[in-house]
Amino acid sequence: TFVVTEGCIRCKYTDCVDVCPVDAFREGPNFLVIDPDECIDCAVCVPECPVAAIFAEEDVPRDQLDFTPLNAELALKWKPITRTKPALPDADDWSEVKDKRDHLER
Ligand code: SF4
Ligand code: F3S
Repeated sequence: TFVVTEGCIRCKYTDCVDVCPVDAFREGPNFLVIDPDECIDCAVCVPECPVAAIFAEEDVPRDQLDFTPLNAELALKWKPITRTKPALPDADDWSEVKDKRDHLER
């Protein structure tokens, strides 16, 4: 499966969702996740993300490994998003910020 990591938090550009052939993305207030039960590992979403937040499970950076179970957990709770929409209003202010985990809204 593919995994959305920290870079997405407070940005949510949503370019990724338009290309997913199986509508695997789920939307929270300021972050998206991929439902691991839906993702077919096509990888087309990876280059769409302006902040490079999406990784194949086997390529998730070491300091982002907690995002794999987090995607699975939140996918059970959040609703599908299938069309790109405007990013969060201050997305560009957060796109280069590291250590954004504490800002994740569930
Ligand atoms: Fe969707 Fe393919 Fe990305 Fe999985 S890898 S979330 S199937 S676009
Ligand atoms: Fe998030 Fe990147 Fe998609 S910022 S919403 S994973 S395009």
